[in-house]
Amino acid sequence: MNAKRGKFIATFAALALALTACSAGGGGTDTDSTGEGAGGKKMRLALNQTEEHPSYIALKAFGERLDKATSGKWNIEVFPNETLGAQQEALQMVSNGSVDMAIVSGTQLENLNKDFLVLNMPGAFDNIEKQMKILKDQELLGDLYASLETEQKITVLGGFTQGERSVYTVKAPAKTPADLAGVKLRVQESDLHLAMAAALGAQGTPMAYGEVYSGLQSGVIGAAENNEVSYYTVKHFEVAKYYNLTKHLVGTDYLIINTDTLKTMSAEDRATFDKEWLATVDEHTNLWGTKTKEAIDKVTAGGAEMVEVDAAAFKEALAPLADKFLTEASQKKLWETLRDAQK
Ligand code: GCU
Repeated sequence: MNAKRGKFIATFAALALALTACSAGGGGTDTDSTGEGAGGKKMRLALNQTEEHPSYIALKAFGERLDKATSGKWNIEVFPNETLGAQQEALQMVSNGSVDMAIVSGTQLENLNKDFLVLNMPGAFDNIEKQMKILKDQELLGDLYASLETEQKITVLGGFTQGERSVYTVKAPAKTPADLAGVKLRVQESDLHLAMAAALGAQGTPMAYGEVYSGLQSGVIGAAENNEVSYYTVKHFEVAKYYNLTKHLVGTDYLIINTDTLKTMSAEDRATFDKEWLATVDEHTNLWGTKTKEAIDKVTAGGAEMVEVDAAAFKEALAPLADKFLTEASQKKLWETLRDAQK
């Protein structure tokens, strides 16, 4: 067991206690006398995005369709803006069942199973279209999605694209890795992404998403990296106006659910749930294109600058990461399968 997992389990008990009160408001799970789960539940879903974000829009519609299709038995209440906690907490709450579902970035899951790291690697996906085909491929990823069930009680249902991520800076444009020298770059809580920041030429600082705006504003960090949609919806463009098109990564978000909650669904309800979830993934992907264009228009109108960069220089700087981080046989195999599938 690694140190991170130890920490994860240690905070588990405290959170379970602290959240008992909250979960009482979320509606209980009714099971019938056979324990077959004929009941239903209003499931609470933790999200760290605003109501304008494609994930909120698609998930809210998912809940509404599920409610209708199961005649009100199963539905989903989406809590946006980190109101139930940041992703690290959301992960623990889904594990202990105080929250049923959450969207978490792949970087969070990499801390529980190193094979998820493969999909967080710069260069894992050529583009969103290929990424989505792979994320929907149960034959390829089904075992990985089920890998957290026994120990963590977390089932991964599938993924949403995070689009292409680029580095944005407060003080000056960054066209090459050299331009990021000495700049503190916020990254997600991942050893891989910390090393990625160094490879990009900067000094990595892990931080929760909700803290990035004030971090940029106060000067605690001088840069962050994200897609255009987040750059716009959480208003980072107001405090870091150079959006340098490094496109260093196509990121993935996962929808996770507490495994015990999922097990209480009858086979019929589960089939409905799966069908509506698949429709949600497609809706999200469609929305992503429109919302990205809209975000670019809005941030540009708001004074941000989209900066062309020396893409080859950034790509070359990131190349050594794969050898350094894909050390286990299972990771290497998954990496090869991923890359082969995109040829
Ligand atoms: C994106 C992603 C989130 C993630 C965030 C981050 O917005 O969709 O899941 O938390 O990046 O950088 O933390």
